[in-house]
Amino acid sequence: MSRWRSKPDLSWREQAKKKAASDASDLVKDGHIVGLGSGSTAAFSIEEVGERIRKEGLRILGVPTSYQAFLLATAKAIPITTLSEHPHLDLIIDGADQVDGALNMIKGMGGALTREKIVASASKKRVYVVDETKLTERLGVNQTVPVEVLPFALSTVKARIIKMGGAPVLRKATKKAGPVVTDNGNFILDIDFGPIENPLELNRDLNSIPGLIETGLFAQMADFVYVGKKDLTVRRLEAPRLTRTHKFAHA
Ligand code: A5P
Repeated sequence: MSRWRSKPDLSWREQAKKKAASDASDLVKDGHIVGLGSGSTAAFSIEEVGERIRKEGLRILGVPTSYQAFLLATAKAIPITTLSEHPHLDLIIDGADQVDGALNMIKGMGGALTREKIVASASKKRVYVVDETKLTERLGVNQTVPVEVLPFALSTVKARIIKMGGAPVLRKATKKAGPVVTDNGNFILDIDFGPIENPLELNRDLNSIPGLIETGLFAQMADFVYVGKKDLTVRRLEAPRLTRTHKFAHA
């Protein structure tokens, strides 16, 4: 059962995100190794897991996907571990920027896409939490694809992306002069590809560019997406059973 309570001072989107995150957090069980996602929706699930540790004495270990997740988890007294100590996770709960009907996703508007994908790939169950504004018929409509790039390779990566038909823009920091620097010390390019025909293929093509570290295209990675709706109900979407082309630790 969910422990969520509506707060009148939250917008419907915040309430929907919180409700979806709270419902998904019920999947966390005693003894689990849990990937802790990044962004404002995943933050609600980290808070919820922290509450369950405090109230129920739930015993889990968390693997944060960013400094944001790490700082929040430690503030909520969630015990932290690393991939070195626990390379196999029971589940990850994370947010997303766009989700299509097959549960392919674009992630990374928070800049944590590389660690998010690494932790997801090590997780047995991959669960994403969004509000209903994140659903789309086609990825790439009104949404750029973030990619993490080694600064040394910025110009060569940009040239290859333009050749592929994308329009890359270096993400600028807001409270610092110059570019955003990720938790891994790299840059982010936000690429406009327009509507994306085949996210799996585009992800493969992008990942073949030397110096491009990882993409925010999460194709065929989600097992479940919890969607918080305007009426504050939560719809659980399940991925179609596919022969996964990614080789996951638990696949
Ligand atoms: C972080 O890099 C992202 O992948 C986030 O998970 C994504 O941007 C969703 O963030 P919000 O929940 O804040 O919309």
